[in-house]
Amino acid sequence: MEKIIDEAIQGNTLSIEDSKQNTRKLYIESYGCQMNFSDSEIVAAILAKEGFNTTQNLEDADLVLVNTCSIREKAELTVRKRLEKFNAVKKSRPNLKVGVLGCMAERLKSKFLEEEKIVDLVVGPDAYKDLPNLIQEIDEGRNAVNVILSKDETYGDVAPVRLNSNGVTAFVSITRGCDNMCTFCVVPFTRGRERSRDAQSIIAEVNDLWSKGFKEVTLLGQNVDSYLWFGGGLKKDFDKASEMQKATSINFAKLLEMVAKAQPKMRIRFSTSNPQDMTLDVIETMAKYENICNYIHLPVQSGSNRILKEMNRLHTREEYFQLIKDIRSIIPDCAISQDMISGFPTETEEDHKDTLSLMEFVKYDFGFMFAYSERPGTLAARKLKDDVPDEIKKRRLTEIINLQRGHGLYRTQQHVGKVVEVLIEGTSKKSDQHWMGRNSQNTVVVFPKEYYKVGEFVNVKIEDCTSATLIGKAIAHSKNN
Ligand code: SAH
Ligand code: F3S
Repeated sequence: MEKIIDEAIQGNTLSIEDSKQNTRKLYIESYGCQMNFSDSEIVAAILAKEGFNTTQNLEDADLVLVNTCSIREKAELTVRKRLEKFNAVKKSRPNLKVGVLGCMAERLKSKFLEEEKIVDLVVGPDAYKDLPNLIQEIDEGRNAVNVILSKDETYGDVAPVRLNSNGVTAFVSITRGCDNMCTFCVVPFTRGRERSRDAQSIIAEVNDLWSKGFKEVTLLGQNVDSYLWFGGGLKKDFDKASEMQKATSINFAKLLEMVAKAQPKMRIRFSTSNPQDMTLDVIETMAKYENICNYIHLPVQSGSNRILKEMNRLHTREEYFQLIKDIRSIIPDCAISQDMISGFPTETEEDHKDTLSLMEFVKYDFGFMFAYSERPGTLAARKLKDDVPDEIKKRRLTEIINLQRGHGLYRTQQHVGKVVEVLIEGTSKKSDQHWMGRNSQNTVVVFPKEYYKVGEFVNVKIEDCTSATLIGKAIAHSKNN
């Protein structure tokens, strides 16, 4: 799910009735994956109860929080740059407090306070419920740190405050943490062990979103297919659960079905699927319910069996191909996207060619592609030398991106001349005369606004395309409104 959105997002103004007197202002910025953006909505909800309204205006803020990402070195450098800006603001406003949340907080812990002198507060992803106490600490003039990873925290009982929302699409977290230990990845260290959230609280959140007019939810987790609710606690402790808990446990296929049935008119998406954990049950459930979108984000990282093994991705290239074939036979028009890493340690030209040939086989609809960035503390950093020179990483990455662009175009061209159902999300970035929305396959569609409205499902005849966008004209409302 870690769709890197390298831009900041700020909160909207709240009006929470049962909160303390709202006298202070919170300015919150999020970096990195969708989970961080979703977590910021939980943080805003927790702080609303402490009397904080969110503001989009840094100048108005009493408290600045930065929800940070550690996935690649560049993501951390972006945050450090942003902290420089807050430092400058703090010079003229010494009462302003600055806090760091998320994965960098967890990775660097109290070292952050030494390295970035302006930081007052450091809070890891499992400690947001402690924010009221920590804020009190800093109000009393002390620095405050809580980076304790939890075995059961899922924030299932916190109703997120939707920040910067289009009122149409929303994220709903279903798991936290990850047990997969891919050797390049810092997430298991920063977000801890995998826990699933109570299915009933997920359904309640989805129902609440529907009642507020939302039309699409994305169920979020680092590895959604590994979702398993059996009464709480770590996934790894399932073996120790009672017979009763085992018999009534809910896996991801079941959860998907529950959500699809709870709101049959709502679009359901999910992210991310790890190939080794995705089951046929999930694909069959997707096929069975029309409101579950035909789109799977299925990161593979490399097409070389040797590199997959070094990465501790627990499947082979051949098993991945089989999964793709199964998806396509059960859901013929399913879109599939990838994450890819170029230049993992020891990657040879031969390994890279395997990646290109795997891509040629799948012809992904789109992808998120990165040069390998060594992360301190990961198994790869401890055991393997970061031995692929930067120029080679970059050249291979360019080849991967160019190939993907061609495949993206191949996929979008398949829609030209056809009618697709689009959920309108808002005005197109490029033209205020056009709506922007997505089809079931998650491809962006733009078309003239005419008399259609945000939040409506519309049938759009596709007339043209680029490698990532479909361009068309609405012909009618869809029956799904
Ligand atoms: N399972 C997660 C993956 C999180 S990281 C999910 O929900 O998406 C997102 C992507 O960042 C990974 O799939 C991988 O392609 C990339 N990535 C992770 N660690 C990286 C590293 N050290 N260097 C380069 N890319 C990395
Ligand atoms: Fe990272 Fe692998 Fe989990 S990429 S988030 S360790 S599935």
